[in-house]
Amino acid sequence: MLPALPDSDPWIGPYLENPGPETVTLSWVRRDASPCALTVAAPGEPERALTVKAHAHIGENGDWLYRVRLDSLTPGIRYSYVLHCPSASVESEFRTFPLESDRIVFVYYGDNKSIFDIHRRVVARFARHEPLFLMHSGDMTERGRYEEYRPYFFHPLRDTISRFPLYPARGNHEGDGRAFRELFDLPGGQPWYSFDCGPVHGIVLDTTGWRHPAEHRDIPAMRAWLEEDLARRHAPWTIAMYHEPSYDLGWRKDDWGREDFLPVLRRAGADITLSGHAHGYQRLHPMFAPGQNDTHPITHIVSAGAGAPIGAKPLDASPFLAAQARRFNYMVFTAERERLSAQVFSEYDELLDEFVLRKPGGRYPPAFLAQAMDESGYPGSGR
Ligand SMILES: [Fe+2]
Repeated sequence: MLPALPDSDPWIGPYLENPGPETVTLSWVRRDASPCALTVAAPGEPERALTVKAHAHIGENGDWLYRVRLDSLTPGIRYSYVLHCPSASVESEFRTFPLESDRIVFVYYGDNKSIFDIHRRVVARFARHEPLFLMHSGDMTERGRYEEYRPYFFHPLRDTISRFPLYPARGNHEGDGRAFRELFDLPGGQPWYSFDCGPVHGIVLDTTGWRHPAEHRDIPAMRAWLEEDLARRHAPWTIAMYHEPSYDLGWRKDDWGREDFLPVLRRAGADITLSGHAHGYQRLHPMFAPGQNDTHPITHIVSAGAGAPIGAKPLDASPFLAAQARRFNYMVFTAERERLSAQVFSEYDELLDEFVLRKPGGRYPPAFLAQAMDESGYPGSGR
């Protein structure tokens, strides 16, 4: 049963999406279609005053989605905004991406599903890190129905997603993905896309196509897109987020993308994969496939910790496992050109894991490569 929530206006949001140095999307949902007024301001710039009309119907009960794409913004500065709707106002702020930056901070998390009270507790920790953006690897609801997104996803995030833009990935609990596609202004219009921010090239993939026969044809299209995208990228670090893990030492033994997507990521020199789905936290030692990425191993991480139940069954014992936690969790990444670090925190901000990757001159050092592990030794590899 959906929890009773206070009525409010806007009903959902406002929420920030699809950010860049000069752009960001601001969206919200209301129960009527009367226009809202939005003012956006930054020190030394003339105030922008916009009247925003309802963009489209959303859901089955007559709600209205409002969406405005702010552009021609100044890179790397803080904007304040005030949204006036007929019965309520919201004040908040956001930062545009820098044009170039030696150091950025972002938060990654996933798998809140319907456990909204723990979701709220986890996301309340994000603001102190002042992230430039958030990444969510999916399973925001139980069934992906529109009416679930407000209580389970947007309401717990309300004071956070109004300040920090979010990149979402689709999980299997986003169901047929219809509400997911309607609610989010996905870069490129598909649940697979990429973005650049400072020294990071972020990739988001959709692992759920195999579950839906009508979407099977999307899988080779997504792979072709990935090949093209990776051929164009220049950032020092490549981080791929997708819901169902390629490696999972939990009971499900997930192996998404091992045959068709991991070879692409290896050839292109991806550094990290971030997945959800297997509730809890698992970090594997950097792994390489001989002849593919011997000098550029990938660190595979599962962090699915924003509320979905964490089972009592321990992970399989494995020499590939570098760290684990059967706890609710989220991750904070700090990326510089030659150094990328991450910390994993519980919902009470206990430090559960931390690690650093270094690539002086764009290359992993020999001591690091000496500790990397051959993927062919991983149970089930080569299927
Ligand atoms: Fe899942």
